[in-house]
Amino acid sequence: MKQQKEKMRTLKELVRPNVWNLKPYSSARDEYKGVDAKVFLDANESPYNAPVNRYPDPLQMEVKRLLAPIKGVGEECMFLGNGSDEAIDLVFRIFCEPGIDNVVSIAPTYGMYEVCADINDIAYRPVPLEMDENGNFAFRSEALLEVVDGYTKAIFLCSPNNPTGACLPRAEILKVLESFDGIVVLDEAYADFMDEPSFLQVLSDYSRLIVLQTFSKAWACAGIRLGMAFASPEVIALFNKVKYPYNVNVLTQRAACDILSDTARIASWVEHLKSERLRMIAALSDYPASRHVFPTDANFILVRVENAQAIYDYLLTQGIIIRNRTHVQLCRDCLRITVGTCEENDALLDALWNYLK
Ligand SMILES: Cc1ncc(COP(=O)(O)O)c(C=O)c1O
Repeated sequence: MKQQKEKMRTLKELVRPNVWNLKPYSSARDEYKGVDAKVFLDANESPYNAPVNRYPDPLQMEVKRLLAPIKGVGEECMFLGNGSDEAIDLVFRIFCEPGIDNVVSIAPTYGMYEVCADINDIAYRPVPLEMDENGNFAFRSEALLEVVDGYTKAIFLCSPNNPTGACLPRAEILKVLESFDGIVVLDEAYADFMDEPSFLQVLSDYSRLIVLQTFSKAWACAGIRLGMAFASPEVIALFNKVKYPYNVNVLTQRAACDILSDTARIASWVEHLKSERLRMIAALSDYPASRHVFPTDANFILVRVENAQAIYDYLLTQGIIIRNRTHVQLCRDCLRITVGTCEENDALLDALWNYLK
């Protein structure tokens, strides 16, 4: 690591000065804290068309109350946003000075880190994953830390990683957390599909760690747009300061409470998808046009094939959409296939075999 770490940067030194000094907008529902109010004449709402006539709870406390025991994290350590994408963007807006600071990540990985960096005029430094002796992607923390300098405000890691599928080695993530004195964003969007423990378990040990999770994957709620960031209360306070006042709407908060009231249903979906994942890995490994099926801890499988574009195009003609990743760094001729229902997976396998005829 090029950075001289004689002393750790304080949180204040990591935050943009304008954000640190910001006096946040105070909404009507921020100022009202009563429990027994019956008449709401404070927010210039209409009295008609309940419940959507009312502004939502700015801090989504009911959703957080239900989430706390599920995640084992206190409500003061949670931020909810319009998808995890909102939390990703907020990291840039809170910590990174446009035109000056940089962030470091791996490649390939989830594309929004780079897009948000570009939007916010922050230099993005992707460090390519390596290949191990089995032809799988490998992550070494030293390679990543090599490109860190005094202007690196955040490191973005994704585990299980999209689009490669596998978790990054836990020991390597820990080395990053131990060595880097900036913000470490660990995106665990696919955590429910992995067998190893989430880093939420060690959240309180690392005051600069932000763990991202989402309602969009295992929880089957991509349409409601709800993402979670977990971090120290001090970091969460910064998120709450900068976010839009009512960033999660009433309908989303209701749908989240509904899904959180029946977590057994989610667990059975996850189990089913994990068993389908095993079946699909086996089937794709037997497929004659497969060159390599990458290990996965997520609800998708990355597979290198002979001529990804041709297979992708053929599947399109059959009404089956997968993701062609051939133009992504290190993913030449790779297809990313989401694990679906038994019937959907069978339809894909039938089509793949028909393609060969
Ligand atoms: C790694 C990763 N993080 C975040 C997201 C986006 O999540 P959300 O729907 O909560 O914005 C995705 C979506 O594909 C993803 O793959």
